[in-house]
Amino acid sequence: MACGMWQCEFMTPQPQPVLHATTERGEKIMLRPAEPGDVEAIFTACTDPETLAWTTLPLDYDRARAVGFVEGYAPGWWERGDGACWVIADAADAYAGQLDLRIDPRDRQVADVGFLTAPHARGRGYMTTALRAACEFGFEHLGLERIEWRAHVGNDGSRKVAGRVGFQLEGVQRAGVAQRGQRRDAWVAALLKGDPR
Ligand SMILES: CC(C)(COP(=O)(O)OP(=O)(O)OC[C@H]1O[C@@H](n2cnc3c(N)ncnc32)[C@H](O)[C@@H]1OP(=O)(O)O)[C@@H](O)C(=O)NCCC(=O)NCCS
Repeated sequence: MACGMWQCEFMTPQPQPVLHATTERGEKIMLRPAEPGDVEAIFTACTDPETLAWTTLPLDYDRARAVGFVEGYAPGWWERGDGACWVIADAADAYAGQLDLRIDPRDRQVADVGFLTAPHARGRGYMTTALRAACEFGFEHLGLERIEWRAHVGNDGSRKVAGRVGFQLEGVQRAGVAQRGQRRDAWVAALLKGDPR
């Protein structure tokens, strides 16, 4: 394995950390690596119409992709030193969503986030709590100074989550994101290390 950031910083390879957090309602959640037992729930979440409407996931997402997510995509971010992809697990350690923190290869003090909550787990504060924990980790342990959030214009749920964590809206990027071959306008917001959270 190439010498990624985590090996260089810690001298020895470190496993992807598990983050623990508690929602405002008092529910405990965990941000942990994806596991084979998550596959069915990932498939359900990634084929949900609301998920597909607001993300770049393919419309033909199938179980093989969910297996690929667990075995390759998710662990790959940490193994390469490019960030982290966590599964958000509820108090019973069941899959409730996922969150990527992806470091910009051209400017390693900057990262962006991507996330989704499983349909059955929405509206319980999971993503607000998970995003806050991931940002805290990025600022404290990965040397980040700026974390960016981008969403298709109109994704009010995602905007609410980002706003609650302290992300400040910076504007609209016209045709800022590609979704399955179509350019869409994007809201852009960012959280800086020194911002109130
Ligand atoms: C957006 C999303 C991640 C939010 O996750 P969540 O775990 O439900 O978020 P939270 O419970 O922490 O907070 C959601 C808040 O947004 C609100 N909300 C959700 N959908 C909304 C909408 N369409 N319009 C306005 N507010 C909305 C919820 O009511 C809640 O606020 P409340 O606690 O005051 O009621 C989830 O709805 C989702 O996965 N959507 C599909 C995929 C997606 O959009 N991903 C983000 C791409 S940028």
